[in-house]
Amino acid sequence: MKIMVIQGPNLNMLGIREQQIYGPVKLEQIHAQMQEVARQGGVEIEFFQSNLEGEIVDKIQECYGDANGIIINPAAYTHTSIAIRDAISAVALPTIEVHISNIYRREEFRQKSMIAPVCASSLVGFGPFGYHLAMVGMLQILKELQALQEAQKLQQA
Ligand code: DQA
Repeated sequence: MKIMVIQGPNLNMLGIREQQIYGPVKLEQIHAQMQEVARQGGVEIEFFQSNLEGEIVDKIQECYGDANGIIINPAAYTHTSIAIRDAISAVALPTIEVHISNIYRREEFRQKSMIAPVCASSLVGFGPFGYHLAMVGMLQILKELQALQEAQKLQQA
């Protein structure tokens, strides 16, 4: 089982950018904690960050046949990218959207997520802890999917 973590533009600047909104924690620290949850849950995890929309679309496409679930913070592309939304729909993998800030309490242009309707769940406003919650949620989703597949196999046998 493999979880792909995709981080959008400017998230490589966490710990530096707008600390009053995003806090002092760096992306590497968030990823180290997620890696630990993955280890405990016995799943593989891969991390990808890009400032480019097309690279994010390419990475989502690569998940098809390679990953079992996606955790994504598309950052500013959340509010604009039909391409990222379509890529998530195309690969049809369980996907969890994470936002460090509560986008529904911020400027009006941030209050619309293009990708929420194609995600299993959206976690907003928990700070970096949202990524931890997403890991716990994804492990549960994968466990339930696996149980379902095994039950279907038994029925067919
Ligand atoms: C963000 C919220 C977006 O509106 C913003 O463009 C980001 C980060 C968040 O995690 O809170 O870059 O996705």
